[in-house]
Amino acid sequence: MAYTITFKNSGKTAQWDGSHENLLELAEENGIEIDTECEAGVCGTCKVRLLSGDVEMEVDDGLEDEDREQNMILPCVAVPKSDIVLEV
Ligand code: FES
Repeated sequence: MAYTITFKNSGKTAQWDGSHENLLELAEENGIEIDTECEAGVCGTCKVRLLSGDVEMEVDDGLEDEDREQNMILPCVAVPKSDIVLEV
């Protein structure tokens, strides 16, 4: 399933075609810098705000309740389930 991924602040869009492990990989490939540490959904360093659409995360231990309320996601473990817009 292909989805359009919009990186709002970076002014870029990319296609999710299933050939990437996660949104971090897609972002990096498009020259979008996101700080990371664990790359396993645990530390929360990579969190970015999801402005629209749905993602799935196998692990989201790196998010606090407050982050979830603010629609933060962890791109190092997130895969899109629809077209999405990220704030980064
Ligand atoms: S880099 Fe640690 S949660 Fe993403």
